[in-house]
Amino acid sequence: MKNQNYLWHPNTQMSEWNEFPKIVRGDGMWLIDEDGNRLLDGVASMWCNVWGHSKSELINAIIKQTKKLQHSPLFNLTNEPSELLAKKLLKISPNMAQVFFSDNGSTAMEIAIKIALQYWNNLGFNNKNKIATLENGYHGDTFGAMSIGYVPEFFSKFRSKLFSTLQFKVPRSYNLPKNVIEKEFENDCIKKIESKLSNDNTIAAFVMESGAQVAGGVNIYPKNFQKRVNSICKKYNVLFVLDEIATGFGRLGSMIEYKKQNCNPDIVSFGKMLTGGYLTFAATLTTKKISNSFLGEFYESKHLFHGHTYTGNPIAASLALENLKLYDKTKLIQKIQKKSKILENRANEFYELDVVGDVRHKGMLMGIELINNNSAKTRKSINKIVFEEGKKHNIFFRTLGNVVMLVPPLAISNTEINLLIDGTIKTINGISKMLK
Ligand SMILES: Cc1ncc(COP(=O)(O)O)c(C=O)c1O
Repeated sequence: MKNQNYLWHPNTQMSEWNEFPKIVRGDGMWLIDEDGNRLLDGVASMWCNVWGHSKSELINAIIKQTKKLQHSPLFNLTNEPSELLAKKLLKISPNMAQVFFSDNGSTAMEIAIKIALQYWNNLGFNNKNKIATLENGYHGDTFGAMSIGYVPEFFSKFRSKLFSTLQFKVPRSYNLPKNVIEKEFENDCIKKIESKLSNDNTIAAFVMESGAQVAGGVNIYPKNFQKRVNSICKKYNVLFVLDEIATGFGRLGSMIEYKKQNCNPDIVSFGKMLTGGYLTFAATLTTKKISNSFLGEFYESKHLFHGHTYTGNPIAASLALENLKLYDKTKLIQKIQKKSKILENRANEFYELDVVGDVRHKGMLMGIELINNNSAKTRKSINKIVFEEGKKHNIFFRTLGNVVMLVPPLAISNTEINLLIDGTIKTINGISKMLK
């Protein structure tokens, strides 16, 4: 059907689209539209798909739980899938002691902010209420999440209603100022963070994505940067809050990215791949130090003032448990580490394309930054241009600004990774005239 304006698509200029391919079925790594066209899911259906589509173990977990109990709240009650999942998450997440479930990544980050602010409040430090963040970070589209992940291009329309944060520069390996080398830039970022945190005892928390900024265009932190920020936070009594919604659960090649980075966060959020990409669900975890501060007599009002209707939904929790079981059973993380080499070894092929400015890669994440010297001619969004060309080569893309994202389902086969890379090269070649 043409002009589907009755259905509002996310972050989309609706006038650019006459119609959207209608997906009717999923088959492994492929999405199939109503005309039978197959698209390789190059972005894991917005970075959440782990096993591909129609994975029988996950479907069965949903069916089995649906027949038993579809939903009962965690208000006054508990349910087995939520309890088992909380235990499992704590087992794999060092130093964490308590889990709060929610519906999506943005809400998981809202909860992280509320826990951090209320923690200090519970201890009587009411003026310790500033939040520090990194420039270019992204934590979701709700108001708190937009405030801590303020990207002007996305959120300037709402600026007046967002709370202000302390934003610090983030190290990067590309577009560096002239005559500045990467390490100097990183040291300068760290110096500024330490200088502020050592001089301002009203900072409640430092919030950042763990391992890499993804929506900010794939910016992989240099080794030890995250750990250095973590140490500064500990030194100056600032809570360290990590967002692993896009980067945990294997995306960067590790199950728990903060463990890999030798970090000790006070609060961490997971989402996206937690259910294998089949149902919306997220979790915010805290240490004992944090959760203990919420205990007290009822009249002291120290309990967490937060809750969602579907917090701890048993279907989503059962699904997440089955998903985690499959990670163990198939040794997925070890497999990702091997598969990631294919992306690494073929990265040079992208550099050979004349409209490619930079390629950034870690684990099963790659960002290919395009140089667009002709934005006047490309009045359409780069996303639309790349999507249309990608469709000709049977790949589903969703770009972020000028960055073509390769974020495939984690269990993608070697053959399909190579197909994805071949299709991406053809796609970039196909659009290069428009960008030159
Ligand atoms: C790092 C990070 N945090 C939070 C979110 C928000 O998650 P959701 O879209 O599920 O609300 C995202 C989404 O892309 C993300 O990448």
